[in-house]
Amino acid sequence: EKGGHDFFMLKEIEEQPAALADTLRGHLVDGRVVLDEQRLSDQELRDIDKVFVVACGTAYHAGLLAKYAIEHWCRIPVEVEVASEFRYRDPVLDRSTLVVAISQSGETADTLEAVRHARDQKARVLAICNTNGAQIPRESDAVLYTHAGPEVGVAATKTFTAQVVACYLVGLALAQVFGTKYADEVAREYAELESSTVAVQRVLEAVVEPTRALARDLATSKAVLFLGRHVGFPVALEGALKLKELAYMHAEGFAAGELKHGPIALIEQDLPVVVVMPSPKGRAILHQKLLSNIREIQARGARTIVVAEEGDETVRPFAEHLIEVPAVSTLLQPLVASVPLQVFAAEVARARGYDVDKPRNLAKSVTVE
Ligand code: F6R
Repeated sequence: EKGGHDFFMLKEIEEQPAALADTLRGHLVDGRVVLDEQRLSDQELRDIDKVFVVACGTAYHAGLLAKYAIEHWCRIPVEVEVASEFRYRDPVLDRSTLVVAISQSGETADTLEAVRHARDQKARVLAICNTNGAQIPRESDAVLYTHAGPEVGVAATKTFTAQVVACYLVGLALAQVFGTKYADEVAREYAELESSTVAVQRVLEAVVEPTRALARDLATSKAVLFLGRHVGFPVALEGALKLKELAYMHAEGFAAGELKHGPIALIEQDLPVVVVMPSPKGRAILHQKLLSNIREIQARGARTIVVAEEGDETVRPFAEHLIEVPAVSTLLQPLVASVPLQVFAAEVARARGYDVDKPRNLAKSVTVE
């Protein structure tokens, strides 16, 4: 049942290409992106002038990526907030606000309360959920299900990457309603999303074993820092969260641009620092800036672990350990870059003798606020 692995989580990491394919399948019909449930008219959707994405934990990290896609494709403002903060700060909501609630379980109390609050204020609610008929989709106006299948490991892996592509589907669905993307562009983007399954499969084939060896090597570290920029920033946050929850290790994710505003003081001899590099072609300016960050980190004696695009030779001299992932479009990069970080966290935890599927103090679904 664990597919030859000693933990479900490892099997679930490997199921990601299928989870992505299953989540995308059937959502492009006659050139239009369709949701699973849709109780909002096109006119009601066209009236939307602001989007809030609310979620907790890993789902929040997927939500951060929704912002890049929706703002880029739809040209409307998107705010992303952890549900427990959103709910209690009196956000400005009305019938032209769309609240996108992301929840694997569909039962997370913080997210559910945020949904109820939004609806009380007349906002429209769209749920992204992995569990058919759960409470959050039941109370929403529209639903897109991730089809990642049941996730036994407490730490979210395949449901995270499935949430990310679901967020992108929502972005495309909105773009076509708003008219900011034509049908042929939507179809092209959808095909691009489909190509992610192949890219993630290649990551699994190429990087799992070397990343496990690296994890065993670093398993006694006290702390690990994760840096990323743009879409690499949520990847850094997610990489750090996985390591905290599975390996009980102090881990922090930072926006790399913030390094000089404080976190650089933490950099010291032998501290492992994971850097998620943007594409040198797709994001040349950001790539340069991160390269100079890595130089600074390396100069201070830290151990640099760099996730970079295949063939990016410029990082090699500064990477103590290089994890190469396939070249993909900017929005897909989080999918290929997250996988090695999931493997890394799982393997550090295993090397430390912890139960990877059932980390201490954590429940799969948090049904209290
Ligand atoms: C982390 C993790 C949690 C959940 C969070 C939200 O690996 O699993 O952070 O992502 O509790 O859960 P859902 O998505 O069920 O609302």
